Amino acid sequence: MKITATHGEIQNRKDEALVINLFQGTKRPGGSTGAVDKALGGLIRRAITDGDFVGKRNEILLLYTHGKISTSRVLVVGLGEQKAFDIEAARQAAGTAARKLQNLGIKSASTILHGAGSAGLDVEISAEATAEASMLACYAFNHYRTTKDKTARLQTLTIVEFDKSKITAARRGIRMGQAIASATSLARDLANHPGNTATPTYLAQEARKIARNRNLFCQVIDEKGMARLGMGALLGVAQGSEEPARFIVLEYNKAKRGKPLVFVGKGVTFDSGGISIKPGANMADMKFDMCGAAAVIGAMQAIADLKVPQYVVGLIPATENLLDGKSVKPGDILATLTGKTIEIDNTDAEGRLILADALGYAQRYKPAAIIDLATLTGACVIALGAHAAGMLGNNSELKNRVDIAGNKTAERVWSLPLWDEYRDQIKSSVADMKNTGGRAGGAITAAALLEEFVGDSPWVHLDIAGTAWSSREKPYIPKGGVGFGVRLLTQLARDWKTSK
Ligand code: BES
Ligand code: MN
Ligand code: ZN
Repeated sequence: MKITATHGEIQNRKDEALVINLFQGTKRPGGSTGAVDKALGGLIRRAITDGDFVGKRNEILLLYTHGKISTSRVLVVGLGEQKAFDIEAARQAAGTAARKLQNLGIKSASTILHGAGSAGLDVEISAEATAEASMLACYAFNHYRTTKDKTARLQTLTIVEFDKSKITAARRGIRMGQAIASATSLARDLANHPGNTATPTYLAQEARKIARNRNLFCQVIDEKGMARLGMGALLGVAQGSEEPARFIVLEYNKAKRGKPLVFVGKGVTFDSGGISIKPGANMADMKFDMCGAAAVIGAMQAIADLKVPQYVVGLIPATENLLDGKSVKPGDILATLTGKTIEIDNTDAEGRLILADALGYAQRYKPAAIIDLATLTGACVIALGAHAAGMLGNNSELKNRVDIAGNKTAERVWSLPLWDEYRDQIKSSVADMKNTGGRAGGAITAAALLEEFVGDSPWVHLDIAGTAWSSREKPYIPKGGVGFGVRLLTQLARDWKTSK
């Protein structure tokens, strides 16, 4: 999607459609919406007085202009109550409008910036939100359809700004929003590709691809290299699969040195459960078990494109979890990179095993912070549903920063406790720990195992099992892979220095 900013009055644009907005309860629209209403002889006011349109959040009014202005369609999108308005409401308005335009088969449209008028959002921030959400709303995954995709793409969006002095800021915001949306779309693609495409090898190739032409260094460690490093847990999970495992390292701004931010993403490209096999129903969803990896790859791309002035490292342990004569079994004991041993109680608790080696590897960077993202437990889905990722960690300042980044991007997190009593649940009688702690508090006991491998580093774990893919369409999120975490991690990196 091509998004540009131009100076002018939206009612004078000649396009396929115009997008304007309205706060709930407005009787006499002002600003650009007022100007369009006036040019249309009061059509919008009429819809309001007739009670057909009140401006509820994401409500839509489609009007045909009958030659009164040079554009034939006007789309008015509701912003909801002004006192509840925030950047997320602006994103949702832009997403709702863009998706509606795309469904109408419109290829080119002009829009105002949502929230930059009377709501007082900064123009750059509003432009970023409008560009980002418009692109994300139009995302579609049609990679495997052989019949031609009949839905036309919305190809051009022109942001029309009345105040000429704000155009430079608007253009800056558009560039940022586009970079973040592209990276989120990449993460969605990686997630949506089935397991027979998105293998560990494929993830490594995609990581190499994004590193090209960017300030990103990519290293892919194969199974021989893992053995040399002593990654017995990752290799243990991988030994039941014919697909070779990969350990992917991405380093952004490496020359900067110092202590990096380290992002770790679970990359199980298909999780059958292994010998402790999962039930058949919905097992296909387990192609999404690499959404942590997708978030890290996407975030590394966005951070590089935004030229964030930080040293950031992305680590991805990637493997399948399958059944085979060579698979690990319940009762087996694996030695991890740090030397600590884990008894396997259930081969379906594989994510924490591969993360143990990745977190151990992270120590070599002496990280300023480690954030890991993983579709780790069904228990987290039960606890929080689809509306927040579970957050656990060992450092309240870091948790606070992640919480702030989550609220800014509407990729929200919710804190769960990590007390000693939970640690007791993963005690083993034969090894340093075991990989399950019973059904009770399952999201927490999983994190308790991860904590054993983070050393003294400030660390936050995000369990994204409930948020990584969506079974419902939302204003700028389609069904399937969400790309959850890309925007949060990017925001965290952007804010890292300033909030320190
Ligand atoms: N990938 C799953 C977790 C998961 C389940 C993600 C449902 C999304 C939706 C993970 O590897 C797993 O199987 N966890 C087990 C752990 C248990 C055996 C201790 C679980 O949650 O059941
Ligand atoms: Mn599993
Ligand atoms: Zn899994």
